[in-house]
Amino acid sequence: MSFPFHRPRRLRRTARLRAMVRETSLAPAHLIQPLFVHSGEGRRTEIASMPGQARLSPDLVAEEAARLDRLGVGGAILFGIPDVKDAIGSGAADPDGVVPRAIRAAKEAAPALPIWADVCLCDYTDHGHCGRLGDGGAVDNDATLPLLARAAVTYAAAGADVVAPSDMMDGRVGEIRDALDEAGFAETVAICSYAAKYASAFYGPFREAAGSAPAFGDRRAYQMDPANVREALREVELDLDEGADLVMVKPALAYLDVVRVVRETFDVPVAAYAVSGEFSMVKAAAERGWIDGDAVAREILLSIRRAGADVILTYFASELAERL
Ligand code: PBG
Repeated sequence: MSFPFHRPRRLRRTARLRAMVRETSLAPAHLIQPLFVHSGEGRRTEIASMPGQARLSPDLVAEEAARLDRLGVGGAILFGIPDVKDAIGSGAADPDGVVPRAIRAAKEAAPALPIWADVCLCDYTDHGHCGRLGDGGAVDNDATLPLLARAAVTYAAAGADVVAPSDMMDGRVGEIRDALDEAGFAETVAICSYAAKYASAFYGPFREAAGSAPAFGDRRAYQMDPANVREALREVELDLDEGADLVMVKPALAYLDVVRVVRETFDVPVAAYAVSGEFSMVKAAAERGWIDGDAVAREILLSIRRAGADVILTYFASELAERL
């Protein structure tokens, strides 16, 4: 039996009927706001390629954390922009670095707001790669692991609830889990691994914001090939075996098929990172009056939820939470 017996429009007739049968929700609690931290006090510098986003000093991160907390946002993830960089990214594990200081300040201002810390070396190395370089100039996977583990323990000690390794070194989740457990954070600090992180052109604005573009070459020898999806399942499986509590797919919009298949294959919380390029494209088109930026942002984030993400890391979190 078909039309005229069946008429799907009956349930679309009013706003309340549509709300009654809506399959997917988008709420502030699902969203994580990325924040860039640099040194100083009361210091805010706008990021030209990401309208509305800024680098903040730790005290301003604390103010922002309090605002996000009041709005019911799911959390904030911190990225550090250190004053000095070196060959092995030592700054990543400095307990007095900008990220540990911002974590402590945010936790004081808004104890309930979950604070995530990105764990990677690229913001801290003078060559901009995500790990320590070996003799041949390539990233040395195994020599990088202890450096990442030290950074993760530093953020845990400062009060982070979740550490999120984004470097894509093999074996880092297990190394970080062991180090966290040894340091007394077995019960309290979770790991969200950037499990399926692709070598993507969508990271452009972020690298400008963080000054983390590689000085030579690219990241294709450690981040995933955009052509692959079976490999994403393998990456997720390995990270879960090593102790990841949540797994992330990144970027989000151009990889919704990956989000969907990870969701269907593994019964764990799935995060998706709507990255800087995804944000800036919407902002740029909206500034030109070509699209309704707010409506498009909501539709994109809803599509990421519909694909199966529980949590979305997005630069729209703060402005959207105000409207939701
Ligand atoms: C660091 C890192 C990057 C992003 C998150 N963590 C940049 C990169 O891999 O080059 C990108 C986030 C974004 O574009 O919003 N490894």
